[in-house]
Amino acid sequence: MEIKVEAGDITRHPAKAIIVNLFDGVTKPGGATGAVDTALGGGISQLIAEGEVKGKGGEVTLVHTLGKIPSPRVLVSGLGKADKFDVNTIRNLTGAAMRRARGVGATSAATILHGAGIAGLEPEACAQAIAEGAVMGAYRFRRYKSGSQDDDMKEMATLTIVESDKSKLAAIRRGVERGQIMAQAANHTRDMANEPANALPPAALAERAQALAAEAGLECEVLDEKQIKKLGMGALLGVGVGSIQPPRFVIIKYRGKPKSDKTLCLLGKGITFDSGGISIKPAAGMEAMKGDMSGGAAIISTMWAIGKIKPPINVTALIPTAENMPSGSATRPGDVVRAMNGKTIEVINTDAEGRLILADGICYARQQGLSPIVDVATLTGAMAVALGPGATGFMATDDALAEALTKAGADAGEKMWRFPLIDEYKEGLKSNVADIKNTGNRNGGAISAAKFLHFFAEDTPWVHIDMAGTDDSDKEKGIFVKGSTGIPTRTLINLVLGMAKGK
Ligand code: BES
Ligand code: MN
Ligand code: ZN
Repeated sequence: MEIKVEAGDITRHPAKAIIVNLFDGVTKPGGATGAVDTALGGGISQLIAEGEVKGKGGEVTLVHTLGKIPSPRVLVSGLGKADKFDVNTIRNLTGAAMRRARGVGATSAATILHGAGIAGLEPEACAQAIAEGAVMGAYRFRRYKSGSQDDDMKEMATLTIVESDKSKLAAIRRGVERGQIMAQAANHTRDMANEPANALPPAALAERAQALAAEAGLECEVLDEKQIKKLGMGALLGVGVGSIQPPRFVIIKYRGKPKSDKTLCLLGKGITFDSGGISIKPAAGMEAMKGDMSGGAAIISTMWAIGKIKPPINVTALIPTAENMPSGSATRPGDVVRAMNGKTIEVINTDAEGRLILADGICYARQQGLSPIVDVATLTGAMAVALGPGATGFMATDDALAEALTKAGADAGEKMWRFPLIDEYKEGLKSNVADIKNTGNRNGGAISAAKFLHFFAEDTPWVHIDMAGTDDSDKEKGIFVKGSTGIPTRTLINLVLGMAKGK
């Protein structure tokens, strides 16, 4: 989709649909919506009076213009209550409106700059939110849908932001450019996470990483099974050993501050399918485990965006990737594996595999002197139970980093919620035969998992993001469609950009 920015009057724009807005409770629309209402002879005011248009958040009303203005239709999008309004409202309304426009066969749309009028937000931020909402809301994963040439297959070709105040155009263009990168990055994450596991084994995920890195001008190195063995990553190997698809270890480097010896590490879980292994999962819902590489995908996409934006910071991304399968060669409960730092792990439950591959990732990061470490993983069902789909949980050993992450998430509209690292829970990880075991107590399972990782992170400043409850959506709503959400890609990009600014 192309996003254009034009000076002009929205009522005269010929796009197949024009998008205007209305706050909850407003009876007489003002601004650009008011101008459209006037051009339609009070058609919108009439629908408000009739009670059909209320301005509630998420509401999109289609109004046919019957030749009164060049565009054949107007979409009146509800902004909800004025006191709850923010850029997130803009993202979500644009996503919903673009799907609605496409749903009625429109291939072009024009929108006003929501938020910059009476709400008084910065034009650049509003434009970024519109671009993010449009590109994410219009996302579809259709690779395996064959055939039909019906209207449903049509895509939105253009969205034009129409603004009457010429002095705002430059800022709007900057916002659009940034928003497109942010949203495309999130959609790259979605593309990888939605891909069936038979089409995306570790080697294929590594190839995607290489392709995206190359597109953004970044170095990408892929270690194969032999090299992984040589490095002593016994925990990663142990997870992959049951599958016919061998593991990989992906390294992507970005050096935006060559004079500094500090390099941030982004580490993502890349389990391309999590059957549970010998500790096999129940059949119901197991298909969702094709998305168990969402953390790794988010890291790959974040690096893609960083390569495009080029902030002054050094970042190295690590994606250990493996397929967790049961077989005659699979790791058994009770087996002991040795991580890269020499520490031994008793594998109690082969379904607690994410922490095993991340342990080797953390060891590698520490060996390379990378700091801080930010790991991202669909790690525990316990986190999904605790927070549900409304927020992503995280743990941190560094308060400043925790604060920066919370802000990065809030700015992205991806709520991040800090959990405590309860030190006593490491007691539950004591093994009779090895240095540590891979599962602790069932209660507080997300924290136990984090304590397992903490054992490997030691004193390196570290944040662990457990996105098990937010990686996919069963609803189509706002910027979300069914399937992968792309969370926390935009949060991570914001975090890196903030760190580059020294915030
Ligand atoms: N990938 C799963 C966690 C998960 C569950 C992600 C649901 C998304 C949705 C992880 O590897 C796992 O299986 N965790 C186990 C750990 C347990 C065996 C200690 C879990 O949460 O049940
Ligand atoms: Mn598992
Ligand atoms: Zn898993």
